[in-house]
This record gives sequence, C-alpha cells and structure tokens, in this order.
Amino acid sequence: MKVAVLGAAGGIGHALSLLLKTQLPAGSELSLYDVAPVVPGVAVDLSHIPTAVNVKGFGADDLAAALSGADIVIIPAGMPRKPGMDRADLFAVNAGIIKTLAEGIVANCPKALVGIITNPVNGTVPIVAEVFKKAGTYDKNRVFGVTTLDVIRSEAFIAELKGVDVNSVKVPVIGGHSGTTILPLLSQVEGVTFSEEEVAALTPRIQNAGTEVVNAKAGGGSATLSMGAAAARFCLSLVKGLQGEDVVDYAYVDVENGDAPYFAHPVRLGVNGIAEVLPYGELSAFEEKAKNDMLATLNADIQEGVDFING
Ligand code: LMR
Repeated sequence: MKVAVLGAAGGIGHALSLLLKTQLPAGSELSLYDVAPVVPGVAVDLSHIPTAVNVKGFGADDLAAALSGADIVIIPAGMPRKPGMDRADLFAVNAGIIKTLAEGIVANCPKALVGIITNPVNGTVPIVAEVFKKAGTYDKNRVFGVTTLDVIRSEAFIAELKGVDVNSVKVPVIGGHSGTTILPLLSQVEGVTFSEEEVAALTPRIQNAGTEVVNAKAGGGSATLSMGAAAARFCLSLVKGLQGEDVVDYAYVDVENGDAPYFAHPVRLGVNGIAEVLPYGELSAFEEKAKNDMLATLNADIQEGVDFING
C-alpha cells in the first residue's frame, strides 16, 4: 500500500502524516510531498518512529516520484482561511494548486484513490474530476471530497451536549463542505433525540465549526489537528476497502441523478474505491428545507470548479 500526502509540510499534513505513520498497515509506504523545503526533514523526523511504515519526503521538483505507484493520494495542499473569509474566498489561490496536483496524478498514478481536503472542497473536487476527464482517466469511484471532519465534529458536539459515550454516536452528514451546504442529519442519530431548539442551535454550530476554529486561531490558520484526524480516519477507510473489507463512510462524491452533481453521501468502499453510493435515508421537514435552501449555493460552487477547467 503506497499512500501519498500532497502538502505534507503544512499543519494538516503534519498531523495526517503522523497518524498515517502510526496507523497504516505494516509494510506500507508513506510518500510526503510539499513545495516547502522542510519536507525531507518531516520525513526524517517521522522515520524515527518505530513502525513498519516506510516514509520518504519529496520536494517541489519531485512530484512524479512522490506519486509514482501510489494507491491512495490525500491532498491537504493549499492556503487556509483567515478570519472574515469564507472557504469560497480560497478558490482563486487554491484552484491552480489543485489543478497542478491533479495533472501530476494523471501522469503518475491515474488509478489511485484521491481524497481532496483543499478548500473550497465544493469546487476543488470538480476541478480534479474535470482534469481527469480531459485526460481520459476519470473514474468517479476514485475521487472523494473529504467531509469526515463534519462527521467527527458532529459526533463530538452531540456527545458533549447529550452526555453520552462519543464512541456510540454516529452522525450522517450530507451535502457539501461549507456553511449551509453541510447538512447533519440529526433526525437519524440513533439513541438520542433532539428538541426543535436543539436542532436549530446544533445544526448551525456544526455548519460553522470550521469558522469557530479560524476565529479562535485569530489569523493563524484553520483546523489542522482535527482535520488531520478526520483525514486519517477517512484514509484508513479507503485502505480497508482496498484490502477487501466492507466499509461504509461519508464523502463528497460524484452522484448520478442526485441532489447536485457532487453531494456527500454514505458510500460503500471496496477494492476499486466506491462500490456503491448509498441513499441517505429519510429527512425531517427541517432537513428537507435546509437541503433545498442550500442547493443553489452548492451548485454554483460546483459550476465554478467545472468552469475553471472548461470555461
Ligand atoms: C474546516 O472545516 O475546518 C476546514 O474546511 C477549514 C476551514 O476553512 O474551515
């Protein structure tokens, strides 16, 4: 199993790479790429942790070597938000970065499963898909927007609110990954019930949790540690799928006849990536309205990504 992390020297990259070094199956190769010159040092640092995962660092000119033979590519590269910015404000700077990295994947590991963290995820996932389509290598079952942070935040907030064991909380989160496009399905959380007031308060808290971190870091960036944990959890789901285990996880994926061309759904993972996009089940009236209200925003975010490549 070879896993490449593109943007490994940033805050998310550090946390993610540490978790993968300690949690990937024995015999795996962890390939760390970044344009920042510190990346070989990050690899040396991690290599002193005694696990059977081999780590190598690759600098700006070595994208091909970093990607060659990769089974999974996780991309946290790009600029983070500052207070007052929306994720959409990052499009201008991050769209070009993600395009270049997608072209590298086409050239060096076109069959890899690709997990995209770079914001705005609503638009960067379509960029990657369009680059792959142009190259003739697109497989919709291999491209994922990582929305796991919305899921783990929901788990943490609900466990705290309800005083229940966090390990018992499972929360479906559908839609996209910004503001109101993030839609936690509180009506489907088993074992707890929410009053209308709780739903009305908890839903926007989950939707604005990224901004909560951005504001708390006061100009020092956005979520890195929780995003690293979320991305590692999702990457390990991809690994299990590739190893033949039956795994269901949530991700922002290309859906046929869905609510929007890309939409976070539960997906069954397998040896070729997505084995099946699963339905998200019945929505409450509150969730149905929230979904319908955000679709125009999500569709516009998606179109921006598509137009960046084809416009
Ligand atoms: C998050 O959800 O924390 C990330 O998407 C980063 C951000 O800008 O909010």
